[in-house]
Amino acid sequence: MAKKKTDKGVDCDRRAFITGKGWLPAFVGAIGLAGLGSIVGLKPRVLPDPSAQFKIGPPQDFPVGTVKVFDEEKVTIFHDHDGMYAISLVCTHLGCIVSYNDADARFDCPCHGSKFTLQGKVLKAPAPRALDWFEISALPSGQLMVDRGVTVPMGTKVVV
Ligand code: FES
Repeated sequence: MAKKKTDKGVDCDRRAFITGKGWLPAFVGAIGLAGLGSIVGLKPRVLPDPSAQFKIGPPQDFPVGTVKVFDEEKVTIFHDHDGMYAISLVCTHLGCIVSYNDADARFDCPCHGSKFTLQGKVLKAPAPRALDWFEISALPSGQLMVDRGVTVPMGTKVVV
């Protein structure tokens, strides 16, 4: 069969194009690569986030009765008679930063008015759930560390 030249000088065999000899292998290859990419994309890539962890100092810096706000890390540390605990300052509604309201003993969100107890429980919506509690652990150096990548059930306190 005779091949025709296009105006750009490229051979174009009409029968080969229609039967898929030209484009079919490229199409199948593209679909295969897309499928492989999807499978690779499904693999979880959860790595510990070192930036989620921060040291807060030795236990002696937190006597019973301490309430210490870490603005940059968006966490408040409490030490009551049952132990220490760390509560997130990130509102569970849309992520604004709640403020510690010492006078009323609660957390207030400036964005849409949610209010939380000092345990993080919702007092006033629209926040859909309580503030997160984060893990506190002791390092071999004696320093305490908060891991914002690890939430713990409300009420989990560390005895130091
Ligand atoms: S972000 Fe806190 S109430 Fe909306």
